Amino acid sequence: MTVLLELDNLFYCYPGYPKPVLNGATLHLNAGQKVALIGRNGSGKSTLLLHANGILRPDRGQVHVAGQPMGYQQHVLREWRRQVGLIFQHPDDQLFSASVAQDISFGPLNLGLSAEAAHQRVTIAAEQCGVTDLLERPTHTLSGGEKARVALAGVLAMEPLVLLADEALANLDPWMRQQMITIFEQFVTQGKAVLLATHDLHTARTWADRIVMMESGHVIADAPAETFLPIR
Ligand SMILES: Nc1ncnc2c1ncn2[C@@H]1O[C@H](COP(=O)(O)OP(=O)(O)OP(=O)(O)O)[C@@H](O)[C@H]1O
Ligand SMILES: [Mg+2]
Repeated sequence: MTVLLELDNLFYCYPGYPKPVLNGATLHLNAGQKVALIGRNGSGKSTLLLHANGILRPDRGQVHVAGQPMGYQQHVLREWRRQVGLIFQHPDDQLFSASVAQDISFGPLNLGLSAEAAHQRVTIAAEQCGVTDLLERPTHTLSGGEKARVALAGVLAMEPLVLLADEALANLDPWMRQQMITIFEQFVTQGKAVLLATHDLHTARTWADRIVMMESGHVIADAPAETFLPIR
């Protein structure tokens, strides 16, 4: 089984925060897997995902992507973020360009793709996420769900190997939710992997292959969805 993402024994304290938010967090994600990451508010899910694509650097522990140990030099981070895409919990943290088209094309252009190749990626991702009609709109004028879709499109346009989605379905209408689930499905059948942080236990049980539960900054349960015990 190919392990695409390994988070090994991560410890992390936010500067000025009194206690560690990650406390020996370990999680491996295999090719072709759909994994739901659950846990109470503040258990460290988003912090873990921010470590999984190098936005945060652990105080201790190591991240591997496709078997390679990751580092924090600019060129390593660029390649890391190409392989591991993160959809943030709050789309406003993700969108920063003036227009939707600029936002979605930022990643592909940053990879060094030609304007034409980047444009093609934008067209496909926008279509998948139902935002083609929004491409010329200023990002700050979009509704919450529209912003969430644009954030998704920006990550899909990078064609990552691992997709980390932090509550990515929460703000979507039922049609778009189904569309995203289909996109996730296509992802895993291509041998990629999806890790979805969610409070929606129904989705976790019905969609995921595996459920991973965090508490106090580490993983306390990791089991196939069908055998995951009822949660109090
Ligand atoms: N930038 C920050 N500075 C200081 N503390 C932070 C910061 N971000 C998060 N924390 C703290 O770290 C802990 C874990 O937060 P995190 O956002 O990872 O939890 P979560 O499991 O994603 O929660 P939720 O379900 O509410 O999204 C919380 O106690 C939170 O208050
Ligand atoms: Mg969170």
